[in-house]
Amino acid sequence: MKRIEDENRIVFFTSSKFKFEEASRIAQNFGLDMIRKSENIIEIQSESLEEIALFKARQLMKRYRNLTFVVEDDGIFIEALNGFPGPYSSYVYRTIGNSGILKLMKGEVNRGALFKSVVVLHVPNMGLKSFTGICKGTIAKSIHHGRMFGYDPIFKPLKADKCFSEMTPEEKNLFSHRAKSFKKVFSFLIKIRSTINGEDYG
Ligand code: IMP
Repeated sequence: MKRIEDENRIVFFTSSKFKFEEASRIAQNFGLDMIRKSENIIEIQSESLEEIALFKARQLMKRYRNLTFVVEDDGIFIEALNGFPGPYSSYVYRTIGNSGILKLMKGEVNRGALFKSVVVLHVPNMGLKSFTGICKGTIAKSIHHGRMFGYDPIFKPLKADKCFSEMTPEEKNLFSHRAKSFKKVFSFLIKIRSTINGEDYG
C-alpha cells in the first residue's frame, strides 16, 4: 500500500509559482496531490518545445528515478511575426518584454497568436511521455493589469472578454494551454494507476 501512496504524489519541477498555482488546481480537481520543487537544470535552446522539455526531464530522471514528476515548457507564437517568439519566449520576455512585443505589433491588423504548453511526465519504470495543450487568442493593443505572469497581460484567448492577466487562476484554467496539457497528463496518470492497481491489488 505504501508504494501506491508514494506514487500518488506528483512533483512539478518549476521555478514559476504561477505555473504551479494553475497546474495544482487542476491536480486537485483530479484528486491528485502535486508539490513544487525548484531544481538547477540546463535548458537547451531548440526550435521544439518538446525537445526542450524532454532535455530537462532526462536530466531529472537521472536524479529522481523513483519519482513521478512533470516538467513544462511553453511558448507564445504570434502569427504576424511568423511564429516569433515561440521557443524563444523566455529570452524575449526577459529582453524586450511585453512592451517590446507591442512595439513590434504596432499598426498590425492580424493580432492572432497561440500559446503552447508541452508537459513531460515521468513515471517510475515507465519512462517519459509528453502532452501538449494549445490556446488560441489575440495580442491586445496595450498591457492589461492584474496577475502579471509573463505574456498574460497582452494575451486574450478566443471566446474570452479579457486578457489572461485579468482572470483568476480558475478562470484562466477554463481556456489555457496549461490547463489542457495538464488535464491530459492527469487523465493518463489516473488511467495507468487504475490498471496498475487492478493488476497488483485487484
Ligand atoms: P517557459 O516555459 O518558462 O520557458 O516559458 C517561456 C516564457 O513564456 C516565459 O517568459 C514565461 O514567463 C512565459 N509563459 C509561460 N507560460 C505562460 C502563461 O501561461 N502565460 C503567460 N506567459 C507564460
